[in-house]
Order: sequence, then C-alpha cells, then structure tokens
Amino acid sequence: MIKGNSRNLVNSKSKKQIKTEKTSSYGWFDKDNKEFVITRPDTPTPWINYLGSDEYCAMISNTGGGYSFHKDPRNRRLLRYRYNNIPADRPGRYLYLKDESSNDYWSLTWQPVLKNLKDYGYECRHGLGYTKIKSNYSNILSEISYFVPLNENLEVWSVSLKNQSKTKRRFKLFSYVEFCLFEAVMDMTDFQYTLNIAKAVCQNNTIYHLTGYFPYAGRNGFVYFAVNNPLNSFDCDRETFIGPYRNESNPLAVEKGSGFKSQAHGGNPIGSHCLSVELDKNEEKQLVFILGYSENMKEADTFIKKYKYPEAALKELGKLKDYWQKYLDKFSFETPDKETDLMANTWNQYQCRTTFSWSRSASFYESGIGRGMGFRDSNQDVLGVLHALPERVKLRIKELLANEFENGSCHHQFFPLTKKGEKGGYSDDPLWLILSVTHYIKETGDFAFLDEEVAFVEGSKGSVYEHLLRAVGYVFSQKGPHGLPLIGFADWNDCLNLMGPKKAAESVWVGQFLHWAARAMIDLARASGKTKDISKFEEIVSWTKEKVNKYAWDGDWYIRAFTDDGVPVGSKSCKEGKIDLIAQAWAVIGGIGEKEQLISCMDMAKKYLDCEHGLMLIAPPYTTFDPKIGAMGTFAPGLKENGGIFCHANPWAMIAETILGRGDLAFEYYKKIAPVTRNKIADIHKTEGYVYAQFIAGTSHSEPGRARNSWLTGSATWNFTAISNYILGIRADYKGLIVDPCIPRGWNDFKAKRYFRGAWYNIEVTNPKHISKGVKSVNVDGKAINSNVVPVFNDQKEHKVKVIMGEK
Ligand code: GLC
Repeated sequence: MIKGNSRNLVNSKSKKQIKTEKTSSYGWFDKDNKEFVITRPDTPTPWINYLGSDEYCAMISNTGGGYSFHKDPRNRRLLRYRYNNIPADRPGRYLYLKDESSNDYWSLTWQPVLKNLKDYGYECRHGLGYTKIKSNYSNILSEISYFVPLNENLEVWSVSLKNQSKTKRRFKLFSYVEFCLFEAVMDMTDFQYTLNIAKAVCQNNTIYHLTGYFPYAGRNGFVYFAVNNPLNSFDCDRETFIGPYRNESNPLAVEKGSGFKSQAHGGNPIGSHCLSVELDKNEEKQLVFILGYSENMKEADTFIKKYKYPEAALKELGKLKDYWQKYLDKFSFETPDKETDLMANTWNQYQCRTTFSWSRSASFYESGIGRGMGFRDSNQDVLGVLHALPERVKLRIKELLANEFENGSCHHQFFPLTKKGEKGGYSDDPLWLILSVTHYIKETGDFAFLDEEVAFVEGSKGSVYEHLLRAVGYVFSQKGPHGLPLIGFADWNDCLNLMGPKKAAESVWVGQFLHWAARAMIDLARASGKTKDISKFEEIVSWTKEKVNKYAWDGDWYIRAFTDDGVPVGSKSCKEGKIDLIAQAWAVIGGIGEKEQLISCMDMAKKYLDCEHGLMLIAPPYTTFDPKIGAMGTFAPGLKENGGIFCHANPWAMIAETILGRGDLAFEYYKKIAPVTRNKIADIHKTEGYVYAQFIAGTSHSEPGRARNSWLTGSATWNFTAISNYILGIRADYKGLIVDPCIPRGWNDFKAKRYFRGAWYNIEVTNPKHISKGVKSVNVDGKAINSNVVPVFNDQKEHKVKVIMGEK
C-alpha cells in the first residue's frame, strides 16, 4: 500500500491564508507552506512555475503545460513547446486516466482533455521549486508533485491515485511528453530534415529519446523517461499515439485503451507509457515518473533505480524545501504590512533567483532561441540574489566581463552552453558592470576580486578593475553634439532607437547613468585604495553634471534624449512622449541635480505618469511610428515601452523617492505594482498573481491594468532592491551594513534578519516620532554606535541591532 497525502486534496483551503487574499478569484497565498494555491484551472493566462535552478529547467503551467531544457533552451531543449499555440500552454507533461469499465477518460491536470469544470475538482499549488496539481473526478483523487531534485538533471513526477468509490476500479494510465530535437531553432523550422532524423524507442520499460548528430546535445546526449512500474504498452511516435485528425485532447491510444507500441524512426518523437492500474475501494497507489538528460547510459540507469522507490522522491522533495528555507532565511522581514512580508520574504526572492538563472532567455513569452543571457539584464539580476549566492554571482560576473571588448564596449547577450556572445551597440551596456561589481564587493568585501584577471572578447587579459575602467572610459568617449553620450542602437529602453545618418543622437539618461557610475567608481577607488584614477572619474562626474543640467533641464523635469537632428525627446516641446520616467528617477539616483530640481522632476513624474496601476514609462504615448524615434511607436499606446507601466522602472522611482525622504510615496508606488496587490484584480491583471510581469498596460490602452510578459524581468530584482535596500533601508556597503529606512510615516516599527559577511544581523527598527526617514540612534549588542553603518563581524554569531528613527 502506498503512503500518500490525501488529507488535504482538492479545494480544502487552509485556515492559514491571510485575509486580503480571499478576494482573488483564481488563487491565494498559503503563507506557511510558501505556496500559491490556484483554485481553478481556467486562469486568464497560463500561471506557471519554474522548477530547477542551475542546469535543468522545467517550466510548468497550472494545467501541466510547458517545456524543459538542460543548460540552454536554444541548444539543448528537451521537451517541445509550440509558441503561438491555442490553448497557449501545450504540449506539456500530461497524464491521462482511462476507466476500463465506463470508457471515460480525463487528464489529471485538467488539460488537455478539459472535462467540464463542475464535475472536476482541482487545485494547483505552486511552491518553491515544485508544483502539485490535484484533481478529483469520478471519485478518483489524484495528486502529482512535479519537481527537479537539487543538483540532478532530471524532473520527477510523483503521482498518487486514490479510489474513493465503493467498488474496485480498473484503469489505464498514460503518460505523455513531446520531445524536442535538442536544437530548438531547427526543431521549429526545418521539417524536411527534422522529420527524418528522430529516434525514440522503448527498451526495458524506459523510453529513450536518442535523436543524434547535434553538436551541443545529441552526439552523446539523450533523454530518458522512466516509470517505476511495469508497462502494459507504450508509444514513441506522436502521430500513432494521437491518431489522424485528432489532438492531445482525444488521443487515439487513450480512447482505445492501450498504446500501439510505436517506435519513432523519423516523425515526431514522444514518450508515452501505458500502465494498468487497479484500485480497490479506498486504495491509494503511488507512481514515480522521471524524465532526465544524460550523456551516459549507466548514469541514467542509476537514477532510474534510485527513483524506483517513492520514498526517494519524497526525500528529494524534502531536501528541496530545506534548501529554500535556508535560502530565504538569509534575508527576512517582519513589517506592519503582511502583504509586503509575503512578497519580500518569499515570492519576490524566488523570482529573483529564477531571473538570475535564466535572465530573459526562456519563458512562455521568451522563446529561448533569440535571447540568451542579456548583458545588462544579468548584471542587474545579481542584485536580487547577492546576499544568498555571492559565489555564484562572482562566476556570473566573470562570464559577463568576458563579454567586454578591449575598447570597453560589450556584447549585448551570450548563450550559456556555447558561451558565445553576440550583438552590441547598446550605449548603456558597459556601465551595468559597475553596478554588479560594486554591489558584489560591498556584499562580500572581496576587494581582491578587482585584481583577478579576466580575458576580453579578443583574448587579451585585464584585471577586473581594468575592465571597469575601460567600460566607463568607453561610454565617456562616445559623445554627441551636446557632449552627452551617444545613444547607439538604444539605451536601457530597447525601443528608443534615435540614431540616423548623422550618428549624433544622444541619451540624457546614459549621461545620468554615467554620472552615477563615475561616482560609484570614486567610492570604489577610495574603499579599495586604487586611487590613481580618481581624477579621471571626477572629470566625468563634473562633465556629465554640467552637460545634463545645461542641455537637458527642461524647466520642471529632465529631457530624456536628443534625436539625430538634435530635437529633444521627453520634453515639454514634444507633442508626444513629453516626459519619461527614467530620466527623472535616475537624476535623483545619480544625484545629478540640485534638491529643488530633483523634487520637481519627481513631482512631475507623479503628476503626468502615475495612475491607479503604477507609473507609466512615458506620457503621452506615441500614436504613430516615427522612424526618428524608433520602435517606440510600433506598440499600441499604453503597451510596453510606449507608455506601459514598466515594472522594471517603477522601483527606480521608489528608490528616488526614498533618497528624497518621501517614504509614503515610495511605499505607495511599491504597493501599486506588487503582485499580491494585482492578485486581487486577477481578471484585469491576467498574468500570475505571485510574480512581477515586465509591464502592465497604461491608461491609453483599451485594457489598462492588463499585464504581459511575466516572470523573467528586471522587475524582480529591482522591486526587491527597492523594498529591502531602500524602503526598509538595509543595504551592504564597503564598511558594513547600512540601516537607513525610508518608510511610511504610519509605521511604528519593523524587524529584519540579514546574513552579511559571516554573521547574522537581527535588526529592530522603531519609529516613535512617525517620520519617514532619519536615524537617531543605533545600538549594537547593547552598545551605542556613532553611525548607521553596522560593522562587519564575520564571527558566525547573531548580533542585535536596535535602531531608533528620529532627528539626530
Ligand atoms: C526588457 C529588456 C531590458 C530592457 C527593457 C526596456 O525588459 O529585457 O533589457 O532594458 O526591456 O526596454
């Protein structure tokens, strides 16, 4: 008899759910189990989860859809995904159950058979690194736990089936996956070839996908798909299993009640096991499927043997939960706002870890073939995981540094498996290295990193410090008619493509960012003792300050850019795109203007860009395509960069507001776009209520408030940075841990726990005067200290930090 967990199967809401979440129509947060519970399968878009972290990645929707890859979604894709498909999330990891007496059949993940919802009990729990999908149909309770065990290149589907009827029942259980021929581009495009090379066979109870001859995968690599019970039959050929003029909803094999024992020699390879299952009344059975990538048959065999036992799966799931608990313990919060705690403690950090692993490469919106690891994106993504994964961050930064050319310019992206970089010409890219390296050193104190040698793209080597020097130097060398940085193909805003034949378009924002970077280099130089270049950086600081203020101060806010003809963009003088959020926020972050200017530009951002769903990137949006402005006008007004609420840029406004000391406003912006808030209007927001999306449609669009492109977005790292480092104000610095909150005035207090350079900091902040910003006193382990930078202890002990807010 199988041990299972039928106690809380299907729609049994835990009492632990927090009050505000009841309003969502699709799901709620189970805080204690760190799960998001989806209560109906027909979510407005597929609500997905990422399983795996470093090498094996499996995306899974709330109805079992999604694909897998090993290391690289372009060169080593294991399961197929059909983009632009309807329904959107097919194929997937499916299990069909066919009742031998009634001939009725259904899917244990609702899709693809799609039984009537009124007869179908359903619950999906997306957890940290695992997803559980439960169903209750025809008196059969099922629960599938999908997960990728830590450090293993495989996914487990642990299945329990329980017969709740009064009689013995006999079933056939069919598994189903569709293999991708490893090279995703070829798999999607070159059918005259690919349909003749597939090879999938069933040997000794296991299905193997063996299609070969691909340089990065197929020669030795293969996929195995195994189950811990004997087979009745199987299929490896898609057309045979599905049958003519049918689809995944009504496969011929399932309808017939047994597999055809097809092998794939050419055609479309699949893996489908068919098992006979008998369940006495009240009996529960447990099955384990594993699907993995390997280059060695013996290794695959070891795993197949290991997961013969359901206990092994349970143990691995337990290890995964421990991993996440430890990970999240490194930085946790207790604030007066329970929703903030939910995001900052769990879901935002989880999303940060995912974007760190996969950048913008593969999601349900990024195809995994065009974009690899984005250079600027990955440099930013490190911020959200640094406190937990400093060693991994260091390796990632080295990969990024290796994509810098000798002259200081950079590739725009690289691919993880081949390590090949490509594209360039984005004016901001090199400067993001200053962000990642300075943050890494502030976190770790590893100044020696600056002297480590890393090769440039051309092969010659230079120290990390030399890389940074060249990056700053390169951007400063590329100046236009106003002495501001040339915009190149684009800057952070990929769609602001202003360059024309004169090659003279300039980015004010890159000027502000360069100002910030040069100041960051001065701080680094002072902290590390590498002072010889300080005067160069000082020259850049004053140059950028002078030029930006002379040419780009528009009276009430900062102009965003100049076209190839020198016409301002993001200015009062423009008909469309009069004001741009990031030129205001970064003026404050970089500290490039006088206090009144900075207050004015953020006030204007609020006035013209704020709406009930967040801050729009520009206003008003462009209504037509203008080649002099670039791709901005290709989007409908209100979408993406053209006046969408870019969730990546909103936290820059939050950070700016904390610098100005306006904690109520910073927090208001934070709460507006937080997924937990959006989950309450899921029918409007449409994407997952537990992770950030790239953007939310602005007020000019016909569906304002509708989000798109969830999961892989800089919104994750920057919202976490805004709440933890700036609103709660706990951030690493060269000399210690800064505590400098800027909170809503209504808050009495908050607590945080942070692991920092080998010690635990238990921080308690009280706010007796109900102010937003200002630290009156700091007490560490019972002794007052004279600043709000708590020293480095590195003693593996806990330290009590008591902070009282107020005027000094
Ligand atoms: C997307 C890209 C990012 C870019 C932003 C604005 O989020 O991943 O690199 O900066 O859009 O265009």
